[in-house]
Amino acid sequence: MGFLKSTIQVRSRYERCKHAWDSHLRKTRECILKAAEMAPGRRKAVLFGAGLLHDIPLAELSGMFEEVWLADIVHSLPSRFSALRFGNVKLVELDVTGVVSELGVLRRSPKRVLPVSEPARFLDDPRLDFAVSVNLLSQLPWVPGRFLGGTRPEHEVSEFQAHLIRSHLEYLKRLPGRTALITDTFWRAESAGGGGAVNGGGDVPVWDVLSGVALPEPESAWDWLIAPAPERDEKLDYIARVHAYPDWKTSGA
Ligand SMILES: C[S@@+](CC[C@H](N)C(=O)[O-])C[C@H]1O[C@@H](n2cnc3c(N)ncnc32)[C@H](O)[C@@H]1O
Repeated sequence: MGFLKSTIQVRSRYERCKHAWDSHLRKTRECILKAAEMAPGRRKAVLFGAGLLHDIPLAELSGMFEEVWLADIVHSLPSRFSALRFGNVKLVELDVTGVVSELGVLRRSPKRVLPVSEPARFLDDPRLDFAVSVNLLSQLPWVPGRFLGGTRPEHEVSEFQAHLIRSHLEYLKRLPGRTALITDTFWRAESAGGGGAVNGGGDVPVWDVLSGVALPEPESAWDWLIAPAPERDEKLDYIARVHAYPDWKTSGA
């Protein structure tokens, strides 16, 4: 469905943009550790969207918790090797929406009602002390949107995409233990090298990557220079605004 291809693309983009990404990756790791410190226990930690582990402080978490579970829909070979270095790190292949396996049928059967995303994994896990959703939220509607787009009314697909986002946010609230959320929220384009806003002006949202779902005021936020020129455009830098919630359950959402 393109998940592996997308992981490979992220990996090569990381190689080209690692300097530009550095501060975002460091802030993400710091936020994860800050949230982990406040977990009610040190038994089990789960990282949703662990992916290529660029933004995961794996050695520190492995030292803090009895078990660390890396959850993603696809695990690359380098991530598998990294996990092997730690005796208490496990990989779990998990579609956090629970609907991805149905997309093929849904695409071929446009009259079929779209499913409800009701993630349940870990909800009844008495050992779970800490869970964090790591730069994953904005990715959840992406493949479903690509699969279903053009097969049924646009508003139906958009509403489904927003539903996937809301359902993940609710899931994070229902999990046991401390939960944290780090996500990009909208993207903007600026003239390369800090020349000022091009689209929208100032901090006006340009591309909402959360399908219209509003998030509460974050505990911290930062800019992620996700595609510096000429990565996507000769003259434009693409910047993602990231929100961080080290304690999602009390974030006011
Ligand atoms: C932008 S990456 C997150 C950054 C990642 N921590 C890294 O360092 O590469 C988003 C991750 O979400 C994963 N993902 C996308 N849809 C998913 C789903 N439905 N369930 C679980 N993981 C998913 C992708 O495979 C990818 O690894």
